[in-house]
Amino acid sequence: MKKLPKLSERLQAIADMVPYGSAVADIGTDHAYIPVYLTNKGISKFAYASDVKKGPLLRAKSTIREFDAQRAVETRMGNGLESIKCGEADTVIIAGMGGILISNILDNSKDVLSEVKTLILQPMTAVYELRKYLYENDYTVSDEILVKEENKLYTVIKAIHGKDDVQSELQLHIGKKLIENNDKLLPELLNKYINKLTKQINGLSFAEVTEERSLKLKSCKNLLAQINSIYNS
Ligand SMILES: C[S@@+](CC[C@H](N)C(=O)[O-])C[C@H]1O[C@@H](n2cnc3c(N)ncnc32)[C@H](O)[C@@H]1O
Repeated sequence: MKKLPKLSERLQAIADMVPYGSAVADIGTDHAYIPVYLTNKGISKFAYASDVKKGPLLRAKSTIREFDAQRAVETRMGNGLESIKCGEADTVIIAGMGGILISNILDNSKDVLSEVKTLILQPMTAVYELRKYLYENDYTVSDEILVKEENKLYTVIKAIHGKDDVQSELQLHIGKKLIENNDKLLPELLNKYINKLTKQINGLSFAEVTEERSLKLKSCKNLLAQINSIYNS
């Protein structure tokens, strides 16, 4: 069997969150590196590599053949979790997509998800919106980690069923677990937020006053003060 190449830091962080012995569905698999890695290392007995598009699925099939994983990884074609039947997977990975798309995929397959124990999600955008979706839909973020690749920060979220104890909007913006775990990249994330909020506040301060803008300005200032207090603590 050909030796697996090293996974990128982002993909490795995702793979490291998969519980040992899981049956995995990797939704939006593209190259299928994660399912092939997990089954090759014996972390997962069986995995589904699913994608909505033909091109990515051809890439997935080629990786599966190249690393002789045909018996352990099955490709599926379909939109989101529609390709997976109830009970087939106990861990679902959705990585490399926007947070809104990930939320929509989760929202469209509540029946399949009722039998899934662990979600591992790696949103490229709209991380706040995804954390909010998880909270409002009775998921708990049981772990979260930041990864830096080519100067970009990525978050990897592990979620399980059960209502989370979220106390503030700040925890949804920054990530409760990232704060609790004092993630080694947290200062970089806070810095990015501070810069973004400062620009937003400047823009809003010079714009014509409306009720909506005043409320937005107040909430940005409030969030900035809370972030500054974690940053300086
Ligand atoms: C940027 S790639 C990410 C590949 C891999 N998961 C990773 O993180 O490196 C996004 C993949 O998601 C697939 N995709 C987008 N929308 C999807 C959907 N609704 N259902 C399944 N796959 C989807 C795309 O075809 C593409 O292959």
